[in-house]
Amino acid sequence: MKLSIVIVILLSFKCNGYEFPEDFKFGVATASFQVEGAWNISGKGESIWDYITHNNPNFIHDGSNADVACDTYHKTAGDVQLLKEISVDYYRFSISWSRIFPTGHTYSPNADGIRYYNELIDELLANGITPLVTMFHWDLPQALHELGGWPNPVLAELFVDYADKLFEYFGDKVKNWITFNEPYQICDFSYSDGILAPAYKQKGIGGYLCSYTVLIAHGKTYQLYQKRYKETQNGRIGITIQGPWFEPRTDSAEDKKAAENMLQFMFGIFAHPIYIGDYPKVVREEVNRLSTEENRRRSRLIAFTPQERDLIKDSADFLGVNHYTTFICTPRNAEIQEVLPMNTDGGASCYQDDEWAAAASRWFRLVPWGFRKVLNWVKEEYNNPEVIITENGYSDLTGELRDCDRISYYNSYLTEVLNAIHEDGCNIAGYTAWSFLDNFEWVNGYREKFGLYYVDFEDDDRPRTAKMSAYVYKNIISLTQDKLTLITRPRDSNGAEQLVSFCLY
Ligand SMILES: *[C@@H]1O[C@H](CO)[C@@H](O)[C@H](O)[C@H]1NC(C)=O
Repeated sequence: MKLSIVIVILLSFKCNGYEFPEDFKFGVATASFQVEGAWNISGKGESIWDYITHNNPNFIHDGSNADVACDTYHKTAGDVQLLKEISVDYYRFSISWSRIFPTGHTYSPNADGIRYYNELIDELLANGITPLVTMFHWDLPQALHELGGWPNPVLAELFVDYADKLFEYFGDKVKNWITFNEPYQICDFSYSDGILAPAYKQKGIGGYLCSYTVLIAHGKTYQLYQKRYKETQNGRIGITIQGPWFEPRTDSAEDKKAAENMLQFMFGIFAHPIYIGDYPKVVREEVNRLSTEENRRRSRLIAFTPQERDLIKDSADFLGVNHYTTFICTPRNAEIQEVLPMNTDGGASCYQDDEWAAAASRWFRLVPWGFRKVLNWVKEEYNNPEVIITENGYSDLTGELRDCDRISYYNSYLTEVLNAIHEDGCNIAGYTAWSFLDNFEWVNGYREKFGLYYVDFEDDDRPRTAKMSAYVYKNIISLTQDKLTLITRPRDSNGAEQLVSFCLY
């Protein structure tokens, strides 16, 4: 792509200039295991990701681990200065459960872990950056895994104990909490399909057991906060769900049903209990029907009691949505090469169009219009809840500093956010770029890079260098604050809209 595309284009014709709302917030995100390093110092316990990277290095495509990662544990002050440099309103990071509670149980806190997060939070606040804290971003304490992990419902109680302590330790300063990052990935990918730690393959069982526990844990955490902390701390609690768009292959009723089912089995299974009060009807009916067909004595889906439904219903002050890409779905068909293993109970097979531009990740093609569609689906499905886009970003293999493809991604996807806000009335309050830094991309190790800042993983000091996208993002944020903001060009003949952004170079 030519650099000129991202350089200022002044428009001589009347333009349809959308701005982000005055109170719209921008941030960047990371997750503890992907950036912190310091995996075994000052009393930190082992997590399932420490365990799998050390004991099954073949699980990680480049054989790497996150023992040091970006070493953010040792770089609080410098990193916060980088955040300040790009003018973000907030920083989304996660707390490593096993850094604070090495065994996962809250009777034995680790003082150094509490110190570390206090210093990070204080440094952010001193620099005018709001912390948005994820309580759980996949790094389960290994000791709790040895009790069975998320498929064991006792984990819900242990999570609430942990959350209670987080409110106690940090709730005077942290006002924005996310309980879980991407429960589908925590559950199906980890316990049904085995593509994330702890890599269990209990297809059609593990994922649902886990989903039940996670939803109970979320609901109880929300209720605990209302009861014990809301009045004094006055914060907000949400949950983040991964929301790809699933496009029907054709207009046929069968294809539409396949695509809709994927949305329900991946997104609705978590959002529906929270916003409506139970699993989506199609999820309950299909899993129950299939379980009977399979001669099981009980459904693979764990039903909620009425009390549990009440506990979970209305348990989010905002909905975090992570979005990267789009899939095309059709009724289940063995000939289709699926990009990722997905829940099959919805009877769909999903793939991506080879013609769509590809990012570095195997599952990741660029489809900006899919972003707008999923934001609209969420609006219709759950009565236009407040949404914070908690992740969106682009991966490459090069880590190049003149990262025009990443800039183009942000431009085209942010344009769709503007369209969703202004043309469709979606209630979107914030946008979070993934990621602040190049980091440990789970099973892909350090190969796939999502950062606005390049990190040199060969250098012991892990120096960071701003990519061009960091400056473009800063401009997008700053222009918004000045109310000059982004301009979109009227639809061109292809119906596409090109966001015009300012590039410093
Ligand atoms: C921590 O782990 C590193 C490997 O990442 C190892 O070299 C070091 O000895 C360990 N330190 C302690 C205190 O166990």
